[in-house]
Amino acid sequence: MHTISDYQEYFLDYLSKNTIQKEPKNLYEPISYILNLGGKRLRPTLVLMTSEIFGGSYKKALDAALAIEVFHNFSLIHDDIMDDAPIRRGKETVHEKWDINTGILSGDAMLINAYQLFENYDGDTFKQLAKLFTKTAIEVCEGQQYDIDFETRDDVTIPEYLKMIEYKTAVLVAAAMQMGAIIADASETCKSAIYDFGRLLGLAFQLQDDYLDAFGDPETFGKQVGGDIIENKKTFLYLMAIEDGDSNVRKQLEGLFSLNPENPSEKIQTVKAIFEATGAREKTRLEIEKYTRKAFEVLDVLSISEDKKKVLQAFGEQLMNRSV
Ligand code: IPE
Ligand code: IPE
Ligand code: MG
Ligand code: MG
Ligand code: MG
Repeated sequence: MHTISDYQEYFLDYLSKNTIQKEPKNLYEPISYILNLGGKRLRPTLVLMTSEIFGGSYKKALDAALAIEVFHNFSLIHDDIMDDAPIRRGKETVHEKWDINTGILSGDAMLINAYQLFENYDGDTFKQLAKLFTKTAIEVCEGQQYDIDFETRDDVTIPEYLKMIEYKTAVLVAAAMQMGAIIADASETCKSAIYDFGRLLGLAFQLQDDYLDAFGDPETFGKQVGGDIIENKKTFLYLMAIEDGDSNVRKQLEGLFSLNPENPSEKIQTVKAIFEATGAREKTRLEIEKYTRKAFEVLDVLSISEDKKKVLQAFGEQLMNRSV
């Protein structure tokens, strides 16, 4: 096993060697722009780390790690168009820097490139990876559509919300980890347990993303703080405030979430105050912790050393306490 920062370094090195620079520029420049904007590199790190946790080598996992990160960045370009987001990782989003058509096509090319990277695997490994990737990618699309549909609905339930974030976010984290296990030729039990670990961690991760979208530090967050409020996203914060607020608060919140004001700063301030006063902010923190703990429980059934379990646990703790 290596350290988390080792895996990040191996990944970044591989990424820099595999950046495509060719014509037409307006197709490939946005791809290299988004891939080199930084980001936490959470998913590729998990692919490499999981492969070694199950006794494989990180080297064999590099193409799958790259495929997952390219897919993730494709989904961000399209997500930023759908969410009308101006800033990503502290810089202009692709559709702001270029235009929407460029974002669509560069994103499409990235999705195809991600598939292509799996061609570097043979036989049964290729088949398993491609099958998992296809299932995951279609679920991400379904999750993204639910997310958009919920913007204009006022009757979204908690189970619906959980399904939406499972699909748009958690399944990719789960798949990243299962890919590591597939490449290491781990047992079926391990492959299934690590998927579940990643899924639960991914749910905690999206809850934390919702939390930071409202309460993150604008100096370091790298995205527009309050973006979800502007877009009327039915986040966990919102659903909790609706559940726990009295009828006046509920009416006020529903009213605010049916508007798209020209200058949204007052809306953001009011909504955040409601999230605070109803206890929704605190409840969201507890929910993040709950899903992180649930993920840790899955580790009990994994037949790996205690040291390796500690590494996975430390990773989960780090994610829960992140500010970016
Ligand atoms: C952002 O993912 C999209 C979500 C699924 C919440 P990350 O928070 O992993 O984004 P980067 O790659 O670190 O920028
Ligand atoms: C994004 O969810 C999920 C995918 C990109 C598939 P968000 O819309 O919450 O992600 P951010 O906050 O823009 O990174
Ligand atoms: Mg978004
Ligand atoms: Mg979105
Ligand atoms: Mg978000």
